[in-house]
Amino acid sequence: MSNSSTRKIPVGILGATGTVGQRFIQLLENHPNFEIKSLAASPRSEGKAYSNAVNWKLSTAIPKNIQHLVLKSCKADQFKECRLIFSGLDSDVAEKIEEEFFKAELFVFSNAKNHRMSPTVPLCVPLVNTNHLDIIPIQQKLYNLKKGFLVTNANCATTGLVVPLKALEESFGEIERVSVTTLQSISGAGYPGVPSLDIFDNVIPFIDGEEEKLEIETSKILGNVKNEKFENSRIKVSATCNRVAVLDGHMECVSVSFKDKSKLPDISALKSALQNYECEAQKLKVYSTMKNDINFNPIVVFEENNRPQPRLDRDVNFGMSVSVGRIRKCDLFDFKFTVLLHNTILGAAGSSIMNAEVALKKGYVY
Ligand SMILES: NC(=O)c1ccc[n+]([C@@H]2O[C@H](COP(=O)([O-])OP(=O)(O)OC[C@H]3O[C@@H](n4cnc5c(N)ncnc54)[C@H](OP(=O)(O)O)[C@@H]3O)[C@@H](O)[C@H]2O)c1
Repeated sequence: MSNSSTRKIPVGILGATGTVGQRFIQLLENHPNFEIKSLAASPRSEGKAYSNAVNWKLSTAIPKNIQHLVLKSCKADQFKECRLIFSGLDSDVAEKIEEEFFKAELFVFSNAKNHRMSPTVPLCVPLVNTNHLDIIPIQQKLYNLKKGFLVTNANCATTGLVVPLKALEESFGEIERVSVTTLQSISGAGYPGVPSLDIFDNVIPFIDGEEEKLEIETSKILGNVKNEKFENSRIKVSATCNRVAVLDGHMECVSVSFKDKSKLPDISALKSALQNYECEAQKLKVYSTMKNDINFNPIVVFEENNRPQPRLDRDVNFGMSVSVGRIRKCDLFDFKFTVLLHNTILGAAGSSIMNAEVALKKGYVY
């Protein structure tokens, strides 16, 4: 029988009970390319039906075909019916488990930090650098794989930052220095995450490891692939990260300084460069840029002085775009602006899915 569902790629989700895992399940419901066949999480959840194991936190219901799926252990030999794996695993365990899965010749798309900076692993933000997927054959050669690979997506705050930076570099040349201060939502810490007595009525001026991720990952993502290697950008990023009492949506206050001061744009040229920025995923018309007939733009520019706001704007383009507002000149750097992204959609599961859609269009996934 050859109906559309049998042609879909069978996928598994690791970390399926977590904050990111739940988003994968929500975003993959009725997906035209991928169909969930298997789920796994920790030994605490193994053997339970999904609806009994998960503490479901999303406003849509658990899809009917998922509720009764029994959670497996994170072993590649239990995922033989799958060709592709989406991982929302805790980074304490992701490194070895993801390695086992891609070495078993599965296509693995990971959210964990462990392999992001590896010299043969693409670190892809789907609205920015899907050209980095071109390193896949080098990775496969290194591990002697006929198929299967590991692709990572970035830290959630990094994802929000690099989209406008890429758009500006495309129009006005290299950015030399960036200062970014984040206000990050509590869902970014997973479940149960930050205790309510710590975060309610409060701001916590520290997120372990987050500033380093923004500073290091940005240069890999904005770099190139040359002679079968990554060539990182020389951009310098200084980051300060705060956890705030917002449920979903990371906000970032960004200042940028361009290398070539002779080409500095005026504010309206800067806005149109952001607004008109196009990425490869959009040109390839992958499903996440087309669903619900949205007129997809990687960046949505706000003119109002008090936007974007997490509660009002995190779901713009179903959480798959970056919002930018408060665009103005800066006396210390050249320009400053405010960025918002949905951290568990574009900042996590949505990025993995869009990376997989692009990899499918380019023939890396089959
Ligand atoms: N939250 C975000 O906004 C965000 C954004 C970008 C990237 N990330 C990254 O995505 C990953 C998942 O984050 P999250 O926020 O979803 O975390 P989370 O809510 O804490 O979920 C963690 C998942 O890992 C599973 N797990 C824990 N220990 C395990 C073990 N020993 N073996 C197998 N599975 C185990 C958990 O299963 P049980 O339920 O059975 O314990 C759960 O499914 C992390 O690497 C995180 O850094 C998160």
